[in-house]
Amino acid sequence: MNSKDRVPAAIDPDDIGYNDTPNEHFSDILDKRVSRRNLLRGGAASAASVMLGSLGLSACGGDSTAAPVAPVVPPVPPVVVPVEKLLSFTAVGKSLADAVVVPAGYTASIIYALGDPLNAATPAYKNDGTDTDFENRAGDHHDGMEFFGLGADGKASSSSVGRGLLGVNHEATTNESRASFFIHANGGTNTLPRPAAEIDKETALHGVSFVEVRKAGGKWEYVKDSSFNRRITCLTECELSGPVRGNALAVTKYSGNGTKIRGTLNNCGTGKTPWGSFVSGEENWSGYFTRGAADDAARGNDKSVASLKRYGRNQGASSRHGWESGGADDKYARWNIGKLGASSNGSDDYRNEMNGMGYILEADPYNKTKAAKKRTALGRYAHESAAFGKLVAGQPLAVYMGDDSRNEYIYKYVSGAVWNAADATPSDLLATGDKYLDSGKLYVAKFAADGSGSWIELAIGNPKIAAYAGYAFADQADVLVNARLAGDAVGATKMDRPEWCSVNPANGEVYFSLTNNSNRNVNASGSSQLVPDSANPRAYTDLKGSSEQKGNPNGHILRVKEGAAGATALAFTWDVYLFGAESGAAADKVNLSSLTSDQDFSSPDGLAFSPSTGIIWIQTDDGAYTDVTNCMMLAGLPGQVGDGKKVSLSYPTTAGAPLLVDTYVGKAPSADTLKRFLVGPVDSEITGICETPDGKALFINIQHPGEGTSQANIGDTTKYSSLWPSNAGYGAGKRPRSATIVITKNDGGRIGS
Ligand code: FEO
Ligand code: CA
Ligand code: CA
Ligand code: CA
Repeated sequence: MNSKDRVPAAIDPDDIGYNDTPNEHFSDILDKRVSRRNLLRGGAASAASVMLGSLGLSACGGDSTAAPVAPVVPPVPPVVVPVEKLLSFTAVGKSLADAVVVPAGYTASIIYALGDPLNAATPAYKNDGTDTDFENRAGDHHDGMEFFGLGADGKASSSSVGRGLLGVNHEATTNESRASFFIHANGGTNTLPRPAAEIDKETALHGVSFVEVRKAGGKWEYVKDSSFNRRITCLTECELSGPVRGNALAVTKYSGNGTKIRGTLNNCGTGKTPWGSFVSGEENWSGYFTRGAADDAARGNDKSVASLKRYGRNQGASSRHGWESGGADDKYARWNIGKLGASSNGSDDYRNEMNGMGYILEADPYNKTKAAKKRTALGRYAHESAAFGKLVAGQPLAVYMGDDSRNEYIYKYVSGAVWNAADATPSDLLATGDKYLDSGKLYVAKFAADGSGSWIELAIGNPKIAAYAGYAFADQADVLVNARLAGDAVGATKMDRPEWCSVNPANGEVYFSLTNNSNRNVNASGSSQLVPDSANPRAYTDLKGSSEQKGNPNGHILRVKEGAAGATALAFTWDVYLFGAESGAAADKVNLSSLTSDQDFSSPDGLAFSPSTGIIWIQTDDGAYTDVTNCMMLAGLPGQVGDGKKVSLSYPTTAGAPLLVDTYVGKAPSADTLKRFLVGPVDSEITGICETPDGKALFINIQHPGEGTSQANIGDTTKYSSLWPSNAGYGAGKRPRSATIVITKNDGGRIGS
């Protein structure tokens, strides 16, 4: 192998950071002070967590004045309704087994894995690297997922509990070097140029699938020949919608008027809109593109260079898979984003191609004839999930989102249109999306040391944006395409990798996973390292075997309570619901949430409240605690912002004076309010979560089992780090496969009870 053809040593492709703008100073953090105490005063009682049966109350009506005497009836004994206690299962222990472990009384079944055919004509998956036709198969690296009910009439149904469509993100594919080695017979080609036939398989494995699932004979299964089954790959045509549509920044050889782009890429978290469509976040898309070593000069060092750098593409950057090398066809050429053509507007090359990636994509799960739309008003960054705030008729909608790279930001979109309850069951899902998601305001979060925070609008009219020295924004579309740069301009708070977010249905508070950050350092040096701050307050050393993990290797879950204006509030309060930690870690510095061995976790990622039970499900994508346990899922019954206490951390520094950081930690969980529910197979991430409306079937994804396998060992199954799901009896071949599983309770009860 020629050294030029080598890609850098394997790193977690999710763990990247490009934000080296100057860190804000503590005095800045304090500038917009809102009284935490005042905002918290009058908070409601703890969110209801236990579902109580209704008690029969006999009517003792009647007015004492006039009344004919009623006949005497014997007293009716009160009706005793069994009370379902949530989190009554026995916590699952940490596990290194190559298996999915769930509590006693529950069953986990594999229903939909990488390569499974999506129509009757596509052959069964052989799983030996010879399969083709991935446009008609389940994609790879199942990630975020949503359930869309189907009635017996084959139409959308919000009450169907036995039949539905799963919208599944297929984020990526397992690679050690360039090739996605589990899907090629010999592991594939790492050198350039790569064979077109390998590239065609890999591009088809990315994107989204919609697949019908049903309960038949008491068991869940996917429906191979359903007419609803559909793939969106990274070559499927999608519409740009909202302010960036038609903008000069979106002009490419493929779309001279800047209105469309092929495909969606690196789809991670998901969401379900209040009108019942599927939304999907495009996350680490920039790594798939290459740019020539002298491209800055080719561009005349214009402002696009600053944009490309801020989104992770320095000149000379090589692409993750080398897809640009497949040949002269435009479907390969589009992965090279250098300025290669002579045009002044980019209509003869793909210099602007990346401006079409990095959005929230909206799709109609029920209608495969409708092109998915990229909702550009929500900004362009490394999107995870999109969580809708509590709905209030006559008020705008809020959509909460995070940008998952080290030191990136948390965002809120507020719709221009106000909510009309009639839109909950619209005749046209994407037209409803046009109404709510194409016109609104985008805000970025700034967290203050007193437990308050503010939303700062990213508007071209903001003087800090208009006059920003780092980038000359032309218009609002430019602000949205370069939301990271706009966030830099207004001094947003750099976070420990914002992953998923979810809204607590009990009180509307918004929970954000901050998965980890290796760049938190008490003695921060260089532009990319940050000192701990109140909202990202920990920097410590964790041992993984004998190797030191520094920064905030275990992550935390932050939550936000909006001010009185709700969706449109510009001020909020916050605290940290849970700090990830090993149960044995120092209680005064690391294990600030006092997690026990039944509760301890590292690197929270997937996060979602169950609409039926109110349980918060926490899923991990970890590399710090994996010497002790595989990744996991926990169930929690949280309280509310402000139910805990202020904690003051003091860090010795090399400069002399200690660094003092105040933070706010939520009430420590008890054995009844946080429990480990599931542990996954070796080298897998637990991600994606949705359920049937009755809460009795919970679907989750096992992503990239066996990803630690070396490509060189592709021919020796004894050297695979995982054999799941074949070791659980699913499918042909022994190569590990990402898959959807369904969890049911053996007594037919709700999941988490
Ligand atoms: Fe795809 Fe940020 O996880
Ligand atoms: Ca450790
Ligand atoms: Ca994720
Ligand atoms: Ca992952």
